[in-house]
Amino acid sequence: MIIAFHNHKGGIGTTTLAAHFCVLARTLGLRVAGCAADFKQDLPRFLGPENIPCIDIDPQREEPDYDLFVIDVQSNTEPPIDPDVWVIPISDHGAAINGVALSDSLRAPMIWLGNKGRKLPDVPAYLQGAVETAGSIPYSRAIRCAGDDYRIVWSIPELARTAGALYLHAALHDLLEQAVALSGEPLVVPSRKGKWPKPSAPPPQDPVDSDQAVPAN
Ligand SMILES: Nc1ncnc2c1ncn2[C@@H]1O[C@H](COP(=O)(O)OP(=O)(O)OP(=O)(O)O)[C@@H](O)[C@H]1O
Ligand SMILES: [Mg+2]
Repeated sequence: MIIAFHNHKGGIGTTTLAAHFCVLARTLGLRVAGCAADFKQDLPRFLGPENIPCIDIDPQREEPDYDLFVIDVQSNTEPPIDPDVWVIPISDHGAAINGVALSDSLRAPMIWLGNKGRKLPDVPAYLQGAVETAGSIPYSRAIRCAGDDYRIVWSIPELARTAGALYLHAALHDLLEQAVALSGEPLVVPSRKGKWPKPSAPPPQDPVDSDQAVPAN
């Protein structure tokens, strides 16, 4: 299965989410590789310390060693191969506008994923059936702090149990299940258990992590 994270808008968390998604999928038993369609090559910086390979996907070659490829697609870059599912992060007003425009042009199924507490825009009628929505990951100082060092927030003991980190885990687990269902791939992902709400519910209030909620533009 190939999942690409992409939005033409930069700085909205695309690489952060793609990297954490890789790590989560690996903890759920999938054989994962990342792929950086990103001139900055940020994804390998996150995945190197986690011992998750970042490879160049060769569209002509079978890759039996992996169940899942996660492509981090930088703005204005083409992915090396068509994904089975696009994940479109949305974390501000510009990203929402770009997300709608981008969704108009992509062929594969899409999932809009709110980040930094952003409420997702309504899916226009003509995109319904093509776009699904996932939850809104809260703004989290812990995620930001880890990301500043290209680290996975769950790998830093001091940050791993913050509400932002836990909610990110739950939301990306649900996203993985959603993506597998959309792709039709015969991958088995253990169901998420726990007290965190379904993605459609609003993110939990966190007195530590959510005090810097980003206002909707
Ligand atoms: N939920 C979140 N809460 C707080 N900060 C976040 C969150 N998600 C991402 N960030 C921070 O936002 C910043 C941008 O993230 P990231 O580099 O992943 O974005 P990007 O869209 O890949 O950017 P670029 O266009 O430069 O590739 C980073 O400092 C990251 O730590
Ligand atoms: Mg990036």
